[in-house]
Amino acid sequence: MAYNLLKGKRGIITGALDENSIAWKVAEKAHEEGATFVLTNAPIAMRMGEINKLAEKTNSQIIPADATSVEELTTLFTQSQEVLGGKIDFVLHSIGMSVNIRKKIPYTESNYEYFMKGIDVSAMSLHKMLAVAKKLDAINEWGSVVALSYAAAQRTYPFYTDMADIKAMLESIARSFGYHYGLEKKVRINTVSQSPTKTTAGSGIKGFGDFFDYANAIAPLGNASAEDCANYCITLFSDLTRMVTMQNLFHDGGYSTTGVSMDVMTKLGVE
Ligand code: NAI
Repeated sequence: MAYNLLKGKRGIITGALDENSIAWKVAEKAHEEGATFVLTNAPIAMRMGEINKLAEKTNSQIIPADATSVEELTTLFTQSQEVLGGKIDFVLHSIGMSVNIRKKIPYTESNYEYFMKGIDVSAMSLHKMLAVAKKLDAINEWGSVVALSYAAAQRTYPFYTDMADIKAMLESIARSFGYHYGLEKKVRINTVSQSPTKTTAGSGIKGFGDFFDYANAIAPLGNASAEDCANYCITLFSDLTRMVTMQNLFHDGGYSTTGVSMDVMTKLGVE
């Protein structure tokens, strides 16, 4: 059911790779809720061409941009305002990539070039995006920026390797930039810490399938789906949450505050 929560709002949605992507669901929901937006992804990700289907479905234009390039981000924010006819009200940062994870390199043996690449793509890109937007004064007052994170930023999950440190940095950037942008322009910046979700980025993690089931058995509500995550992001883009900023918000069915569940105890053979 749609509520017109984003009626008249203009946005930029990054990271829709295919229909499993969390960003894909956010775009579908934002369209249902009355927003207009630009879709963007790294030029290399466009080769698959899947994003064209989403653009067609949501009546949106695609502006390619590598999120590590300040120049390309400047073009993105400049052209988006032209295409949409005004300043931006919401931005979704849904970008994550670790070469160390892709190459299955253990955390303690991390390759530092790959580590730096992961930081640039997955965390520093948020800073770059915000710095570009602020310099161009591209975001409206009370605008809302949401970046997606994971609980490994707070607690150790060995398989998440360098992305754990990178997500901690992402969450810190949301807080730090959220202060400055909030003070100056009332722009809100939050991270949503999402349950394990079966997407290209998620499934690339070693042991992901088993861990997905474990998290599902711990969380009293079960794992939150990509669609539920999209719904939550929409509320954060809406005016109903206008005093929420600089937060890391868990969207995980209660997983992060559950010590252990009876389900897991039973699976371990504990009566
Ligand atoms: P996905 O693989 O569908 O999305 C990742 C996106 O990042 C892709 O569209 C990819 O093209 C884009 N990307 C990579 N390098 C880029 C660059 N240089 N410039 C611009 N875009 C670039 O996977 P998913 O799961 O939808 O990931 C979205 C976000 O959600 C990521 O930040 C991820 O870490 C986060 N997240 C995912 C969870 C999961 O279990 N899938 C759990 C918690 C957070």
